[in-house]
Amino acid sequence: MKSIFRHLPSMILIFASASAWAAPKESAMKPFLDRLISRMTVEEKAGQLTQYSADMAQTGASLKDNYKEDILKGRVGSIFNAYTPAFTRELQTLAVEKTRLKIPLIFGYDVIHGHRTIFPIPLGESASWDLGLIEESARIAAREASADGVHWTFAPMADVSRDPRWGRVSEGAGEDPWLGSRIAEARVRGFQGKDLSSTETVLACVKHFAAYGAPQGGRDYNVVDMSERELFETYMPPYEAAVKAGAMTVMTSFNEIGGVPSSANRDLLTDLLRGKWKFKGFVVADYTAVNELIPHGVAADEKSAVDLAFNAGLDMDMQGGLYSNHIVQLVKDGRIKVRDLDLAVRRVLEAKYRLGLFEDPYRYSDEERAKKSLLTPEHRAHARQIARKSAVLLKNDKNVLPLKKSGTIALIGPFADNKRDQIGNWSGAGDWKQAVSLEEGLQQASEGKVKLLKAKGANVTDDPRLIDFLNEHGGNLEIDSRSPQKLIDEALAVAKKADVIVMALGESQGMSGEAASRSRIRLPENQQELLKAIAKLGKPVVLVLFNGRPLALELETALAHSILETWFLGTEAGPAIAALLFGDENPSGKLPMSFPVNEGQIPVYYSMKNTGRPFDAKQKYTSKYLDVSNEALYPFGWGLSYTKFEISEPKLSTARIKLNQKLNVKVTVANVGDRDGEEVVQLYVRDLVSSVTRPLKQLRGYQKVFLKKGESKELSFELSAEDLKFYGKGMKWMAEAGEFQVMVGANSRDLRAASFHLVTTAR
Ligand code: NOJ
Repeated sequence: MKSIFRHLPSMILIFASASAWAAPKESAMKPFLDRLISRMTVEEKAGQLTQYSADMAQTGASLKDNYKEDILKGRVGSIFNAYTPAFTRELQTLAVEKTRLKIPLIFGYDVIHGHRTIFPIPLGESASWDLGLIEESARIAAREASADGVHWTFAPMADVSRDPRWGRVSEGAGEDPWLGSRIAEARVRGFQGKDLSSTETVLACVKHFAAYGAPQGGRDYNVVDMSERELFETYMPPYEAAVKAGAMTVMTSFNEIGGVPSSANRDLLTDLLRGKWKFKGFVVADYTAVNELIPHGVAADEKSAVDLAFNAGLDMDMQGGLYSNHIVQLVKDGRIKVRDLDLAVRRVLEAKYRLGLFEDPYRYSDEERAKKSLLTPEHRAHARQIARKSAVLLKNDKNVLPLKKSGTIALIGPFADNKRDQIGNWSGAGDWKQAVSLEEGLQQASEGKVKLLKAKGANVTDDPRLIDFLNEHGGNLEIDSRSPQKLIDEALAVAKKADVIVMALGESQGMSGEAASRSRIRLPENQQELLKAIAKLGKPVVLVLFNGRPLALELETALAHSILETWFLGTEAGPAIAALLFGDENPSGKLPMSFPVNEGQIPVYYSMKNTGRPFDAKQKYTSKYLDVSNEALYPFGWGLSYTKFEISEPKLSTARIKLNQKLNVKVTVANVGDRDGEEVVQLYVRDLVSSVTRPLKQLRGYQKVFLKKGESKELSFELSAEDLKFYGKGMKWMAEAGEFQVMVGANSRDLRAASFHLVTTAR
């Protein structure tokens, strides 16, 4: 080990020679890095700000095949898409044994919802509304990734989105800034833990800064344009919450906002992020986002792109190689100041220092630890638990669910035994062959008491162009060459023999995620035809949905008795869904994003404003459609249970509060059904009259409670003026005196309200 550190400053030798691992001392960091930076050439500094993808995974266009040569030249600071102890050790050796300054590499990877053990997609996990479990998923993901050589995950994605056409909603926490903030914080805590020098934690990366979730038309990478108020009120809170929770890195978004691409936006990266939010870590570009300043049309050439991005405050260039090629000349030209360059380099080196990489660059590349830590039974158990909590029961007519453990069940659809799709997109280093399918789950859970028949019924899609595209990009669609009608006939024959039919339908994983926007967010037509044919039999039909975004489910709602939304629940999806279908577990998930009736309503979200002509069915000139309601089909916060809950009217501790006082809100929730279960009691507020218009409701709290049948419980919420603040005139963050409503209920639509007044000294 000593040879690695031969040329490093003496500080390192002290650490390296210590027999037991000692966490890097924060107080020693500054002198250590001062000395190191003083020895670096401008080329080496540009190198620290350069990141390339290795060849283990591809997450964009491949631009750099000879990244190893650049490592050897000391011109790379970070590699992503590299994992396993052996491979990261191999690359690290190049950096710390073969370069002049022997500065270790930092390895990044998209560990989005688990590394080897795959948890539900982030949108799915968000439906659990269980911050403790979400944090635990991130902690386990960090434990596995760090045991597999990874130091840094490109997560959490904190992009609020109200457009289900945008495929990346799968990776976020849905439509609400408040819930999104709590979830982003939980994920940061889970990834980074309390101690970055622990080998079980990784750096988090808040992305995509900013407003990547609001592209026009829901088309990925498209233009974002909105009012400053909307930007700060709806889109910024989760990024800010994640930064304040201590996230060490931030990734810029591909999009522009109001004409300025994020990677060239100094207001965003320097004034807001570092100035106002006091962010102390480093900012990385999204994949080739610096190069993309040219097609955006704000830079004429690569050198100007670097000038713009670097001087906006972007520290690390992902994959494009432009910092490496142009920083030296820009320093010579006086366009980049050495002081600023040193600052950016220091930020990157600080992260490496805190991870303990200067003390032992191989400390995350440990075969023995990897063997013990990946895909363990404990991690799988957590995967099963959070999968069960993430499914949402959208509909359950005539209590068709839960299923009896007797008789014959027909399991029909392309997702009946499909493992690849159920681990979802961005499934890290997850191996879908390790997943347990719905069919296997049902077989295990039925304990041999049920006759299970199966038929495919339909391919995922019959669109040959889409099939080829999906398979070219990581998909595994197995296409049955029989005609659609033949598949349906076979399914009908099977269904006729059954007492109840479980339909496993949905989207393939590649139909959501990056670069996977859809203009029609319905089940593919051939699957709808199958459902129509099956429904005609008149038997009980349960629809189990696999998908990465809210879908428009008008037809399905009319045809199926029960609908269980299961997203892509991960490695343990099968057993989790089976436990819910048989009632061994009671569904408790709630939608983090509204499901529209149809695409024409988009954006449709719960916190709409009243408008000057609010909906009135009897009046022509009011805000509405002629052909569809204004409401989502399944609104934010929606989700049923096999038991029944009653939530009382909210009781307020007082009718008036001052700016510095708190309001206490009490409600009683009772389980009046015949099973134990969990309810998410949600609290919303509304400012009735204010200087700028306000949403009809805004989530400001919730509690997830478990109640045995017949049990009831009083819940207490606290509100303060902080919960009532908004950007008033002149973008001033304030709460205004006046009347407010507090609304409490089991979803964002069915609420009971009480009123109070805020009194301020201003009025
Ligand atoms: C592009 C994606 O937008 C980003 O989220 C991801 O982290 C990078 N590619 C790296 O794979």
